Amino acid sequence: MAMSQLQQFAKVIVEPSAEEATRFAAELVKTIICEAVSNEEKLCRVALSGGTTPHGLYQMLAKAAVSGEVPWSNVEIFFGDERDVPHDHADSNYRMAQRALLDHVPIQPQRIHPMPADAEDLEAAAAGYEAMIRDLVPRGKDNIPCFDLILLGMGGEGHVASLFPGTEVLEENKKLVVSYFVPSLGRNRMTFTFPLLNAAKNIILLVTDSDKANAIASLLGEYKKVRSQLPAAHIVPSEGMVVLVLDASAARKTDIQPPRG
Ligand code: 6PG
Repeated sequence: MAMSQLQQFAKVIVEPSAEEATRFAAELVKTIICEAVSNEEKLCRVALSGGTTPHGLYQMLAKAAVSGEVPWSNVEIFFGDERDVPHDHADSNYRMAQRALLDHVPIQPQRIHPMPADAEDLEAAAAGYEAMIRDLVPRGKDNIPCFDLILLGMGGEGHVASLFPGTEVLEENKKLVVSYFVPSLGRNRMTFTFPLLNAAKNIILLVTDSDKANAIASLLGEYKKVRSQLPAAHIVPSEGMVVLVLDASAARKTDIQPPRG
């Protein structure tokens, strides 16, 4: 794997199974939250993603919560993207996270911020969510709010959050939260943009299953042009770090193997 691909990721972890990859990500989430809360800054700001891979991670975190080792009462939850449905709809990322994790950990309700992706005026709603983030999340480089942790999954075509290939929002370099019509979905989505994602201290990109193998092969591959078309390739934190956590199925078209034994 060429150095350029390696440089994007502080670590590329390949575990034999999706469960082991999810467990690795869960342990990393717990470590990051504990470290964030142990410093003078008493709150840890986390942005969640939707999808089946993150869903498995949230369930694992909820199960581990009974141990009490994670200071969930010091965590503030935001959403990195959301579908254009009410928060009680089956497709809502908020509903998924609420049922899988948020209902099972002692986070104060006022510290959980669902994204208003089904608002009447989506532009105003996106601007309002951005303003709230600017109010609540400490600023980092270039005065951009700096999340302690952003959790991301990746689609089979390399989208992260709701930043889809070939869309204009990939070029957005001013707004931190936008709502836009996604042609490939035929629906609106609300999403963080790259400036906000790349301001994070820690990003965990958890990708499992063989349907992601082509995108992972392109992401870690030699062909710059192919790679640059993947939104995931543009997750390059300015001062933070991004860890790519894979299972063997997602990594099967790369030269990286899971640890032996
Ligand atoms: C969404 C997500 C999206 C998701 C990836 C991975 O709203 O769908 O935020 O970015 O994380 O598509 O989803 P799967 O794990 O379901 O493939």
